[in-house]
Amino acid sequence: MLFEKTAIVTGAASGIGYAVAQALRQEGAQVVMADVNEALLIESARKLGGVPFVGNLTRREDCRRLVDFTVERFGGVDILANVAGVQHVCPIEEFPEDKWDFIISLMLTAPFLLTRYCWPYMKEKGWGRIINMSSIHGLVASEFKSAYVSAKHGLVGFTKTAAMEGGPQGITCNAICPAYVMTPLVEKQIAAQAQTHGIPEEKVISDIMLSKAAIKKMVPAENIGAIVKFLCSDAAASITGIALPIDGGWTAN
Ligand SMILES: NC(=O)c1ccc[n+]([C@@H]2O[C@H](COP(=O)([O-])OP(=O)(O)OC[C@H]3O[C@@H](n4cnc5c(N)ncnc54)[C@H](O)[C@@H]3O)[C@@H](O)[C@H]2O)c1
Repeated sequence: MLFEKTAIVTGAASGIGYAVAQALRQEGAQVVMADVNEALLIESARKLGGVPFVGNLTRREDCRRLVDFTVERFGGVDILANVAGVQHVCPIEEFPEDKWDFIISLMLTAPFLLTRYCWPYMKEKGWGRIINMSSIHGLVASEFKSAYVSAKHGLVGFTKTAAMEGGPQGITCNAICPAYVMTPLVEKQIAAQAQTHGIPEEKVISDIMLSKAAIKKMVPAENIGAIVKFLCSDAAASITGIALPIDGGWTAN
């Protein structure tokens, strides 16, 4: 159980972030749920009994405010789950430069900043759990996802470094690398790919998204929440620096 623990979960209004916040709430943790989508966040936090924090994590000052807010309210931070993310699918030669900056800033720089700001509080207690939501695209590439694949590979590298530095401080840092999870982020991709390839949405799922996996099913978001819960447990105290594929066998292929 995680009573007496305080967690920050980013991207918690929706999808995987919501499932992670839910799993941690079920274990009794106090959860600060951070997201840019104010209306959805308020509703999601109300459902879970979490504390909403509205902020745009591509802004450094919002990352700082999130940690300060959590510390003022709960006296520290024990668990940091970096989940907020977006996708942009486009060939490199047409890839908008501002989109590249946005994706790197949200999905690589914000996890670094939040880790840096939470670190002293975890170090003080000699206990901390950092979970970075990478992706199967932190381990392998797909075409037209250059910024996403780069940010997610970078996040795996950052995870390993934080694990090395955190070991002596009682801080573990792990990355989770899911294949496709049915969330608003993926629903948009399915619709876009159906249009691009001129095929029905079911074919996008079966012939594109699940083509490399042994298990021909999307990953349930609540399974990711359960894995985060496990990584925060005492049983996982010796697990650090991993990039755990939840990919239905995609990378075994
Ligand atoms: N869905 C998948 O198949 C899948 C697979 C692997 C990894 N992931 C990763 O999981 C994470 C969550 O994705 P999801 O599928 O749940 O998507 P989602 O769209 O359901 O949730 C993402 C959340 O991030 C928030 N967000 C976006 N920009 C933000 C910003 N600037 N500041 C603060 N919050 C912001 C959104 O408002 C949203 O609530 C992402 O990092 C994604 O890359 C998703």
